[in-house]
Amino acid sequence: MEQQKHYGHFDDQHREYVITDPQTPWPWINYLGNEDFFSLISNTAGGYSFYKDAKFRRITRYRYNNVPMDNGGRYFYIKDGDTVWNPGWKPCKTPLDFYECRHGMSYTRITGRKNGVEASVLFFVPLKKWAEVQKLTLKNDSKEVKHLKLFSFEEWCLWNAATDMENFQRNFSTGEVEIESNINPQTANLKSATIYHKTEYRERRNHYAFYHVNTPIQGYDTDRETFVGLYNEFANPDAVMEGKPRNSHAHGWSPIASHYIEVTLQPGESKDLVFLLGYIENEQEEKFEAPQVINKKKAHALIAELDTTEKVDKAFNELCLYWDALLNIYKVKTGNDKLDRMVNIWNQYQCMVTFNFSRSASFFESGVGRGMGFRDSNQDLVGFVHQIPPRARQRIIDIASTQFPDGGCYHQYQPLTKRGNNDIGGGFNDDPCWLIFGTVAYIKETGDFSILDEMVPFDNQPGTEVTLFDHLKISMDHVIKNLGPHMLPLIGRADWNDCLNLNCFSWDPNESFQTTENVSEGTKAESLMIAGLFVVTGKDYVALCKQIGKTDEAARMQEAIDAMIEAVKKHGWDGEWYLRAYDFYGRKIGSNECEEAKIFIESQGWCTMAEIGAEEGMVAKSLDSCKKYLECEHGMVLNNPAFTKYIYEYGEISSYPEGYKENAGIFCHNNPWVIIGECIAGRGNDAWSHYAKILPSYVEEKYQTLHKVEPYVNCQMVAGKDAFRPGEGKNSWLTGTAAWMWYTVSEFILGIKPDYDGIRIDPCLPETAGDYTVQRKFREAEYEITIHPNGAQKGVKSITLDGQPIEGTVIPYSTGKHVVEVVM
Ligand code: GLC
Ligand code: GLC
Repeated sequence: MEQQKHYGHFDDQHREYVITDPQTPWPWINYLGNEDFFSLISNTAGGYSFYKDAKFRRITRYRYNNVPMDNGGRYFYIKDGDTVWNPGWKPCKTPLDFYECRHGMSYTRITGRKNGVEASVLFFVPLKKWAEVQKLTLKNDSKEVKHLKLFSFEEWCLWNAATDMENFQRNFSTGEVEIESNINPQTANLKSATIYHKTEYRERRNHYAFYHVNTPIQGYDTDRETFVGLYNEFANPDAVMEGKPRNSHAHGWSPIASHYIEVTLQPGESKDLVFLLGYIENEQEEKFEAPQVINKKKAHALIAELDTTEKVDKAFNELCLYWDALLNIYKVKTGNDKLDRMVNIWNQYQCMVTFNFSRSASFFESGVGRGMGFRDSNQDLVGFVHQIPPRARQRIIDIASTQFPDGGCYHQYQPLTKRGNNDIGGGFNDDPCWLIFGTVAYIKETGDFSILDEMVPFDNQPGTEVTLFDHLKISMDHVIKNLGPHMLPLIGRADWNDCLNLNCFSWDPNESFQTTENVSEGTKAESLMIAGLFVVTGKDYVALCKQIGKTDEAARMQEAIDAMIEAVKKHGWDGEWYLRAYDFYGRKIGSNECEEAKIFIESQGWCTMAEIGAEEGMVAKSLDSCKKYLECEHGMVLNNPAFTKYIYEYGEISSYPEGYKENAGIFCHNNPWVIIGECIAGRGNDAWSHYAKILPSYVEEKYQTLHKVEPYVNCQMVAGKDAFRPGEGKNSWLTGTAAWMWYTVSEFILGIKPDYDGIRIDPCLPETAGDYTVQRKFREAEYEITIHPNGAQKGVKSITLDGQPIEGTVIPYSTGKHVVEVVM
């Protein structure tokens, strides 16, 4: 393998990843914000902000797939004599004497030094505030007095990120701003300066944004072309290069916000400046304070909360305490730093981010295409429910409200409106099962059965409400009512694998694989993945019914599960592994009889998790086949061998070149399914070796250049063994991998499993594992659980709770602090 360069390292004590070279192989980003106001920020301060919905309320502009790649963001230009530089190196790319970017838990700190001046910017979104704070600290480390000219920069997006990038005949005429600063005669006494963005406020919008600095300014700009110059770029804006703001007022074209501040620093002196990018909504009756003038009362109030270093430091401290509390709920100490840092910090952090964003906004997801996925969000919940159960509860209700009366579901919904997305519609037949997966995880964590009695509508239509439990029931029934010729679940438009489109048949490149359906003869293709998923979630459903006394319903569903198991054994087994599907014509997919793609990972994962045919040896054979055919240096590929040509009957899966995405990429999301299958089968060595292959901290150590994307989080896909560049990662951050890695390691490898009546202890470890301790807050209790594996891969021999031996493997729940010892 080529010599691999390193661009950074972990700092576990501060829960940060420290990037020491700005020229990372791809922008390495972080997320700011926890609830309503969010920002994406790269290691050079690129990225953008939005309120709740990256499509409908984009606050600042960003151009995806730009040249250079990550261009546009919140930039500070420092003009020191003839040298112009940025603390994050970009966009000027003036070589720095020192550069460092620290991505932490919902904050990023970027520091640059040049010619004796240090500029350090702390970026974060304070809890419960609709604003991004940018605290800039300038320090003179030189022996001479420094006269610096500082320019801030943000570019406004005209709210709807989609039309912002296409409807220029309108957009170039609508832009409007207001400026409040000491430069204007009416507000000459102001000690701070605010630029307001109010495009479309005059008509139907009741929201605006602002960019503020807590000091008087010596100039400003709000018109992009005036500031940058039509023939210049972000790297050399006219106004900055000349050291002269234009005091421009935007009318149409592209409004921006730039403050100009002259800063004098004595040797050794340092100064803080607080910049605030905020978002405000007004009541309809209180929109204006004078004709055409926006009502700024709320903006002033928000600014007043964050206009000094002390206030900002306090808000930052609150954010850090918030993360301390979240990360104190599950903490492991194994002595293996690479494992501990993923479990205790980064995996949990990524789970929170995916929970917030689903698949909407990353550096691979433009924020305009997809909202919250039905199946995605249910899975994300499992990575997050232990941290903020009330938000998980609300999420379950929101998701269930997009179900249809027949149990089918909208595949996606928009976070702002919470309405199902009609462009994509429904018909993905795995979707309903995931509602059970998410709900059961919530109840086990919280013990809150009352959620089952919540009245939840169909398709958000008032008057259609039934209980959440009834939603679960019709979800199960949706599978049973949609069985195919082999009594296996019909796949619909696709199951978990969005690209296995067995009822599509498209030769027209203008058609979408996922929404084109040849239904003239009914959809006949069947999915073994849904069969396994149905058995796993069905068992959960049966257990839930028993918990709440619905024994008849439990029995009814148990029969359906038994029938499904029989159908899989009879029609779903290929001799060495589970089939993947039957196509529209009833031909096998994922069989030794196939020319290509003889084996797929999804059905191996779900059918082994479901333990279908375990006694007959199917589970062990399937897991062995995964090792033999799917595993490679970087993880397990989705299918093998890769498709080398487009197959009209299969759809999008065969549209990808070999080794990428759903065509034999390492789709990290589904590796944990097999790992859990291994854990259930008690094969700890194999489980661990699969797990470590896709664990970011192990990848980080081995190959940063090849992997390309952020080394502190999982990405959706790593190029597989058939790819041109195996090991190259893509689609980082927003992936179900986060929640599945968490679920796998916390519950199946380390073996701490929330259950209705307590915590079930059932680790599955490599035989080399040493003793370890997990601190687990659970409802109103706190457990300190020490496991002594003694070289065993699986099997708990004895447990003591507060010194007393207990029967079985479930620690019964009781409030207070407890000490648990487990011997394997
Ligand atoms: C993407 C989608 C997810 C899907 C997967 C496999 O990650 O978000 O819903 O299951 O791809 O196609
Ligand atoms: C594409 C991707 C798949 C994703 C889907 C979402 O098909 O390959 O991963 O789930 O788009 O619409």
